[in-house]
Amino acid sequence: MNQLVMQGLKLNTPSYVRNAKLIAWVADMVALCKPDEVHWCDGSDAEYQRLCQQLVETGTFKKLNQSKRPNSFLAQSDPSDVARVEDSTYICSAQKENAGPTNNWMAPAEMRATLQPLFDGCMKGRTMYVVPFSMGPLGSPIAHIGMELTDSPYVAVNMKIMTRMGKAVFEVLGTDGNFVPCVHTVGVPLAEGQKDVKWPCNKTKYIVHYPETREIWSFGSGYGGNALLGKKCFALRIASNMGRDEGWLAEHMLILGVTNPEGKKYHVAAAFPSACGKTNFSMLVPPAGFEGWKVTTIGDDIAWIKPAADGKLYAINPEAGYFGVAPGTNLLTNPNCMRSLDRDTIFTNVALTDDGDVWWEGMERDAPGKALPAHLIDWQGRDWTPQIAKETGAKAAHPNSRFTVAATNNPALDSAWDDPKGVPIDAFIFGGRRSTTVPLVTEARNWVEGVYMAATMGSETTAAATGQAGVVRRDPFAMLPFTGYNMSDYFQHWLNMGKKLAAAGATLPRMYTTNWFRKGADGKFTWPGYGENMRVLAWIIGRIEGKAKGQENITGISPRYEDLNWTGLDFSAEQFNTVTSMNKADWLKELELHTALFKQLEHHLPKELAETKTAIERRLAA
Ligand code: GTP
Ligand code: SPV
Ligand code: MN
Repeated sequence: MNQLVMQGLKLNTPSYVRNAKLIAWVADMVALCKPDEVHWCDGSDAEYQRLCQQLVETGTFKKLNQSKRPNSFLAQSDPSDVARVEDSTYICSAQKENAGPTNNWMAPAEMRATLQPLFDGCMKGRTMYVVPFSMGPLGSPIAHIGMELTDSPYVAVNMKIMTRMGKAVFEVLGTDGNFVPCVHTVGVPLAEGQKDVKWPCNKTKYIVHYPETREIWSFGSGYGGNALLGKKCFALRIASNMGRDEGWLAEHMLILGVTNPEGKKYHVAAAFPSACGKTNFSMLVPPAGFEGWKVTTIGDDIAWIKPAADGKLYAINPEAGYFGVAPGTNLLTNPNCMRSLDRDTIFTNVALTDDGDVWWEGMERDAPGKALPAHLIDWQGRDWTPQIAKETGAKAAHPNSRFTVAATNNPALDSAWDDPKGVPIDAFIFGGRRSTTVPLVTEARNWVEGVYMAATMGSETTAAATGQAGVVRRDPFAMLPFTGYNMSDYFQHWLNMGKKLAAAGATLPRMYTTNWFRKGADGKFTWPGYGENMRVLAWIIGRIEGKAKGQENITGISPRYEDLNWTGLDFSAEQFNTVTSMNKADWLKELELHTALFKQLEHHLPKELAETKTAIERRLAA
């Protein structure tokens, strides 16, 4: 500290911060990053408004039309900083084999030596925000505290929405509580008098995790999961390590409550890869034919799941807000989401209308024949008209444009969303985006078969990560970019969890795979999706209750046409066949991809999974 005072840097530590380890760490990071100022966030509304106003003044935010979209802002990022950067994301475990073949790895000492010169002076000319946050309800035994140091006020205001952020965290932390240290910089120091750009970021990007010391270091990006470090970095990559060590699960899953007309409530957790429908499914509105059914949201992206004394798995949503995909969202596909966005929302990379509101592709599809807006400012600040779009294919909103909004804005929010106990899980769903091969829904006959289905899940890549979109890759458990240790050890952890629960005499949650994304020869989706996914969800609940029927196929159990409720939807048996058929040639090819995955993951691959594959191959050959 004395050294800092000598350097003329002030920590400005508030009197209510009494954690010596925290203060020493902030002092070290101030000495390294050399910000002009340090601001300790208190999480108040006044602070939020002040920072938003400041972001408006520096040009990062536009304030939206107050009567159309009260208390809402639009940020348009640099075109080079629009999604997660998986190629620059590292798990720096002491041993390379503990990061496994699916993660980038560098030895911790080498990574520290790489980052040291990048972080040295990286916050010059800027303010360092100290962002205290809790993942999970404050003070609850399942919650964990993080501290993000960031030079981005955009990150600070997003963290206020996405987490329980503010002063109260210091009370829970006390004098000797633990926290996960998260350091973030956009990586653009400002020289004396240099004017800032509206979205500072650096070409060089590093998203780094040290699992053993539970640290996160992020350099160069201001966007989403690269920068809001409570989300993927902490709640998935670091927390998956905590979960393995402590006997729980950190998963890329939505959590929903579903109540049937008899008033019986169930809870379902579903892992779909990025931009594959978690937010949508978690806010589902039951369609005609499902009167008396109700779906409520506990979480839309991340679940922390722990076994309780009653032998059941209980899930909490560690987040407090949604950072969701905008394009495709409209009053038909997701009315609860649209209503959540009526106010108090930060939009990033959507288009701006001439009357100061927001627009994105798909918004027009909520009514037949609805016209496109005549003119917009697109996400890159350029003029957009339907004519320009037709000629150039230019998108008004970036395909990975997003909204940040508090969970409490969601009209379908479950009353238990904030309950520290969590909710008991009755079923897990794993669902990829596949144009072909994979049928609408399949039930696993047992836990091992479910783990196999989840482990071998394939999905077409989306705009949520940089790189080529639309290629099928294996995305085990929708966790490929998020498992913070060796993937095969993660499979083993799931198998062990099942064994442990079964040994305790528990009824295990059932497991399912779904695919809402089969396409016809015309390239169009053949399943109506969105609210109509209720038909599949109701079948799943029916299976749990022992009422719904199905038939065995090569990978599990699927409904026949007559096993689903079709009231209110015109969907023929022939159409059903196009979304459920399993073709032998396709599946021979699919299993080759499973074989290739298992080859890649052979170190520590659980033998039960190889055995399950052999059984499927035998059924396919028969
Ligand atoms: P992350 O936040 O990236 O983890 O994604 P997510 O899984 O929450 O994705 P989200 O629900 O935001 O959906 C992303 C895209 O999938 C949107 O463009 C939706 O319109 C589309 N989508 C969601 N559900 C369905 C569906 O049932 N059918 C079809 N065809 N598209 C869907
Ligand atoms: C995802 O990519 O799965 C997201 C968005 O939920 S981000 O927070 O940017 O990772
Ligand atoms: Mn996600």
